[in-house]
Amino acid sequence: MTVQPPIAMLAELTHRCPLSCPYCSNPVELALQDRELDTDQWRDIFQQAGRLGVLQLHLSGGEPASRRDLLELVTAAREAGLYTNLITSGIGLTEKRLKALDEAGLDHVQLSLQGTDAMMADQIGGYKGGFDRKMQVARWIGEIGFPLTLNAVLHRRNLHQLPRALEMAVEMGARRIEVATVQFHGWALKNRDALMPTPEQAREADRIVKESRTRLKGTLVIDYVPADYHSDFPKRCMGGWGTTGLNVSPDGQVLPCHAAQTIPHLKFDNVREKSLHEIWYEGEAFNTYRGTDWMQEPCQSCENKLKDFGGCRCQAMALVGDAAATDPVCTKSPHHGALQTRAEEHSHNDTAEMIYRGTPGRSQRTKPKEPV
Ligand code: FES
Repeated sequence: MTVQPPIAMLAELTHRCPLSCPYCSNPVELALQDRELDTDQWRDIFQQAGRLGVLQLHLSGGEPASRRDLLELVTAAREAGLYTNLITSGIGLTEKRLKALDEAGLDHVQLSLQGTDAMMADQIGGYKGGFDRKMQVARWIGEIGFPLTLNAVLHRRNLHQLPRALEMAVEMGARRIEVATVQFHGWALKNRDALMPTPEQAREADRIVKESRTRLKGTLVIDYVPADYHSDFPKRCMGGWGTTGLNVSPDGQVLPCHAAQTIPHLKFDNVREKSLHEIWYEGEAFNTYRGTDWMQEPCQSCENKLKDFGGCRCQAMALVGDAAATDPVCTKSPHHGALQTRAEEHSHNDTAEMIYRGTPGRSQRTKPKEPV
């Protein structure tokens, strides 16, 4: 196949984060601060990305506002000609900092929503007072006039808040909301019992999204990631492995997707040693699941193989121990029935407690932390 340039790059500036969300999809082993790429290294990567053909840069983490040089990084990204989107919980952003980011050319903000009220949001984020701070940040974002996307991660404990999350997006003037049912990658896999939606919740979310898309047409775009353990068709993860985007981890590893490190046999290159161009076109990890040659049956002869690329490689690894297997979310997978049975069991485990994640180098916690 002909390899096209990537469209988007996710720059995970740091794994440090003031929140401790149990649904975090970052790896269980986080990159320590002393391994993070510095300002000049990121500046060089942004220049390389621009030359490679990347159009959109998503500044993420952890919490990107935890980087003291965020302003310099946004400036560097704009100098490289990249459209810049800041993916943030809002914690660590002040009005002054947001205005400076606006002047530096930040194009768009994506604000996460852990719940629609302080009790739920602070419990899920593991950070008391976080919701009130976030709402203040949302007001500043509106006053400055940043285009805003709200990102609501939903699961068994907060799916009933979906209608209010949609209302909040409209009230905040967001142009788009991403309704993302929790995906069980990285840390989130530890919390499958605590967070798995019930099949009834998944169906209700489908109904609400469908109805709201019609009702809010022209006002709010709704992107939707359904509860895929309860679905019958796999998602086209990452738009297809090595076709659309790449992720750079805080310590410079270049990954085909954010969970790729959970596939143990893959070898990842680092921007400290190779150029982005070489990694994208020739990197072993990018080429392993590119195209369709790697597919087994039933994917290889499936009429949908160019539509969904057999689903998510990381999910196939996590659930059946083979990253080249058909994602068991697909009805054609021999593991599909067992997956749905297990998903229903997870969703009815009402005694499961949420395991909050710690910051890099710290252990996990079971209680929310106080604001700093
Ligand atoms: Fe890695 Fe889906 S998260 S391919």
